[in-house]
Amino acid sequence: MRQILVTSALPYANGPIHLGHLVEYIQTDIWVRAMKAQGHQVTYVCADDAHGTAIMLKAKENGVSPEEQIATVKASHETDFVKFLIDFDNYYSTHSEENREFSEQIYQRLKSRGHISTQDVEQLFDPEAGLFLADRFVKGECPKCQATEQYGDNCEVCGTTYNATELKNPYSTLSGATPVLKTSEHYFFNLPDFEEFLQKWTHEEGRLQESINNKLQEWFDTGLAKWDISRDAPYFGFKIPDTEDKYFYVWLDAPVGYMASFKNLCERTEGLNFDDYWLAENANKTELYHFIGKDIVYFHALFWPAMLEGSNYRTPNGIFSHGFLTVNGKKMSKSRGTFIQASTYIEHLSPEYLRYYFASKLSDKVEDINLDLEDFMQKVNSDLVGKVVNIASRSAGFIVKKYDGKLSEQCIEPELVADIVRTGDEIATAYENREFSRAMRLIMQCADKANEYIDSKKPWALAKEEGTEQEVQDVCSVAINIFRQLMVYLAPVLPELTNNAKAFLNIDELSFASRHELLLGHQINKFKPLMQRIEQSQIEAMIEASKQSLQSNEKQADKNTDETNTDDFISIDDFAKVEMTVAKVLACNHVEGADKLLQFSLDVGEDKPRNVFSGIRKFYEPEQLQGKKVICVTNLAPRKMKFGVSEGMILSAGDPKTGLVVITLPEEAKVGDKLA
Ligand code: MSP
Ligand code: ZN
Repeated sequence: MRQILVTSALPYANGPIHLGHLVEYIQTDIWVRAMKAQGHQVTYVCADDAHGTAIMLKAKENGVSPEEQIATVKASHETDFVKFLIDFDNYYSTHSEENREFSEQIYQRLKSRGHISTQDVEQLFDPEAGLFLADRFVKGECPKCQATEQYGDNCEVCGTTYNATELKNPYSTLSGATPVLKTSEHYFFNLPDFEEFLQKWTHEEGRLQESINNKLQEWFDTGLAKWDISRDAPYFGFKIPDTEDKYFYVWLDAPVGYMASFKNLCERTEGLNFDDYWLAENANKTELYHFIGKDIVYFHALFWPAMLEGSNYRTPNGIFSHGFLTVNGKKMSKSRGTFIQASTYIEHLSPEYLRYYFASKLSDKVEDINLDLEDFMQKVNSDLVGKVVNIASRSAGFIVKKYDGKLSEQCIEPELVADIVRTGDEIATAYENREFSRAMRLIMQCADKANEYIDSKKPWALAKEEGTEQEVQDVCSVAINIFRQLMVYLAPVLPELTNNAKAFLNIDELSFASRHELLLGHQINKFKPLMQRIEQSQIEAMIEASKQSLQSNEKQADKNTDETNTDDFISIDDFAKVEMTVAKVLACNHVEGADKLLQFSLDVGEDKPRNVFSGIRKFYEPEQLQGKKVICVTNLAPRKMKFGVSEGMILSAGDPKTGLVVITLPEEAKVGDKLA
């Protein structure tokens, strides 16, 4: 029996669980359940990631202490996880005594071995808030392209990355104050000490996915850097031993939270021994796996193994990364109603629909996965309701009504049943290799075979004939036996449905091995519908509710949301960037060879007139616009067109197909004036 410890990444304690997070928790939970069903001893732990500036500020905003803040969020996370049938053996918090002890101990060990150094760091400091400013709390002008309102790490307009100290006219997003440069001493973990170890470790069999290793290679090639593991007070976290006002950066103690959660479980669980799972010397006795999202690979595949190696703990056997969730092909968006919180989903739909859909999409690759709501409804309805549950619903009635719920003493289709049992080996392997989509495909193929069999025998027609008593019972018994095997295969994904099926089938377990025993002469119970179809209206209601929770929700920064909603909205700040200038039409002409365009020479109050093309030829004769005052967007990037460069845009209104009206201003309007 293998002894396996499994973790999912620890969600931050500053926001609710959403469907994106659930990709990971559902993926891990399915794997854990599948491995348990194989008879392995598997322990699955997680916790809230409770430290850091964001959480400290969130608490302040809500007018509560950080401790209260994280307690409330943890309770809501736990409720969500229970509802989505995520079966943690322990759910803890990084703000715990166990975590403090391990974090300090690991730090002390690293320090005593010379892997910690200090260095002065000059950083932007908000004199009003009294805080050093992390990159996302500073905004200013891009040093390269001058775009305004850019964050302290990179420019969203031109893509340049830079240091926050390079921003022009910076301001603190916390207080609006102009930050000042301030120096303080920081503590560093000397990651380069582990370069050789990590090169070897990351390439060992089964440790990382290939695409992750390719990404890591880029990082190795640019060279590993020392990692800044300290933050100055005020900070919500653990104080660094032997310092006055330095705290561990949240990412130092976050992965240690895996150990802390497990330790906390061991303390109240007979036979579960912390050392067996974490001491370097026991690394061959037990196994350790982390499931994470692709955004946090650096922390898990470099910092974390180096920290463990440097402090005499074992390193993980595997780190399994998954991609990000998109909804209807796009990043989750609050305005589109596709930023769906777990708690909103659950009010409208069953968790098992989502578990099945994710399973049908997940592989061992790091690819993003798309929740296409139309496909979601269609797939769940046709696979689960139409194929799987249907097998039981069309055969159980006969058994219960005509044979007092008793299955045949014999199996008349040993080949068919044996085939489905054999496929179970492939399904088990697919689960273990995290090829869930393959497992789901195999299961649906089995379901298809069962349905084809029933269709070919037509028990409903047979039952109307004379002398077919035995045959009807035999056929339906084959179907029920296959259904039982499918329940075994689907149990990791659909724990609730399969549990209800157990009651119907009158059996106690759904372990993988149990599928070998046939149910012969066995008594079953009355069949109750195991799953309802998804209705379009439920999905619509969920989207509507997600839009509403956007309105009632306080603004929340989340790296997963398309917060700026480029598709739907631009911010007032963006709009303010548009420079609209009063212009006079000096010349207006047809363009040779272009049946949609007019070419303008515009006086916008500059030294030289601007050349502008406008697609309004169908609606105007050039002389109608000659000498008119119009509005020109003057800060649009020049556009190279077939007939020349367009240096602006003339504002018009209407529909480019049926009619456009150029906005003209009265004669008195002053050329060069900017409109607000
Ligand atoms: N607190 C850190 C993890 C610390 S682990 C020692 C963190 N938290 S998180 O709440 O932002 O994300 C938790 C997990 O959910 C991460 O693995 C992350 O990749 C995953 N996901 C969050 N949003 C996601 C999507 N939209 N899609 C798929 N996974 C996503 O990172
Ligand atoms: Zn820029």
